[in-house]
Amino acid sequence: MKKPTRVNHPPEVPLPSDNHALVAPIYQTVKFEFESLEETERFLRGARPGFFYARSSNPTTRQLELLLAELQGRGDCLVTASGVAAISQTLLALTKQGDHILCFVETYNPTRYLIRRLLGRFGVTHTMLSIEDLAGVERVLASQPTRLVLFESPTNPVTKIADIAALTRLAQAAGALTVLDNTFAGFHQHGGYDVDVFLHSLTKYASGAGDVMGGAVIARPEIIRQLRTDFGALGATLDPHAAFLILRGLRTYFVRYRAQCRSAMQVAEFLAAHPAVARVHYPGLASHPQHALAAAQMQDFGTIVSFDLKDGAAAARRFADRLQLFALAVSLGSGESLVVTSQLMSGRELSAEQQKISAVVEGTVRLSIGLEDVDDLLADLTQALSPET
Ligand SMILES: Cc1ncc(COP(=O)(O)O)c(C=O)c1O
Repeated sequence: MKKPTRVNHPPEVPLPSDNHALVAPIYQTVKFEFESLEETERFLRGARPGFFYARSSNPTTRQLELLLAELQGRGDCLVTASGVAAISQTLLALTKQGDHILCFVETYNPTRYLIRRLLGRFGVTHTMLSIEDLAGVERVLASQPTRLVLFESPTNPVTKIADIAALTRLAQAAGALTVLDNTFAGFHQHGGYDVDVFLHSLTKYASGAGDVMGGAVIARPEIIRQLRTDFGALGATLDPHAAFLILRGLRTYFVRYRAQCRSAMQVAEFLAAHPAVARVHYPGLASHPQHALAAAQMQDFGTIVSFDLKDGAAAARRFADRLQLFALAVSLGSGESLVVTSQLMSGRELSAEQQKISAVVEGTVRLSIGLEDVDDLLADLTQALSPET
């Protein structure tokens, strides 16, 4: 073999069958081959297991899918290149012209955009209510056939809690699928409810390092089977290297999430007692209007703490600029604490009535609590909230 040939066919290093790597290798390969055309054909007919082309599947991304399915308590999972890809591909694969979607004002902005603008162009209609309006949900589901109900809990940014048992019961009675974007609550929560499809951004708590993007759809095997072909055609595949980084991040998921929740609770209590703060939105606080529901549904209350400053937009702006440890950046769930103000969160396309439902006011600030020592976070909040001298 000449050297130009050899570099394209490097030596193989097979592991002896009794010798294992403790961390699975990254299958950084697009293509897989079988020993013969016949075996390739058998694979393509679904008559044997294996891998063929990484847009459809790859052992590293598959390992991540199997782990996430187990964490969320469902039979199967598909991972995607971002959280938004998980949402858009799921919506495209589950709906057709003439279908109706029930969604909520408090939903993540890009999800609302996807439903209103993108699916709207393909003749999918929607109704948007407040997540607190269960009577409205019942009324809408009774008044027209609905393909799916898409919601989040806790909501962004003011951490409203969806009544998951009531929503799934109403949807099921109406023959609608429930789709829960469970990014804020994490993979270990809400699995006991009768939700059909869970969506996650892996960009957040799964990786935990803020250096990789990904998304996941977790559901019963028959739903995932239905989605798999369309996902392959839509093409927002997760790269195996990204899957490896996310698998690595997941090793510390529980300790990170719980440590961040403990700090979030301390931050929420600190803010609730601060004279510059009008209102704190954190489901772990007894003062949260849905604390009892949150306590019944969740083991951990999340790492997002929002609050309204008494002195409105100017105070929020000054506070965000004065913070030293909290970075002025979007996203959540990674090791560094983050801050965003209402200017970066408001849904500009919402009507005045919908803005009111969203409960984001000019002085609203959202904190994403990271893994720093909580004393340092409290000291930073104290100096940023102190009156100007
Ligand atoms: C609730 C929720 N869903 C989905 C996403 C989208 O995830 P990604 O940024 O990975 O596309 C985000 C991102 O902030 C989010 O907060």
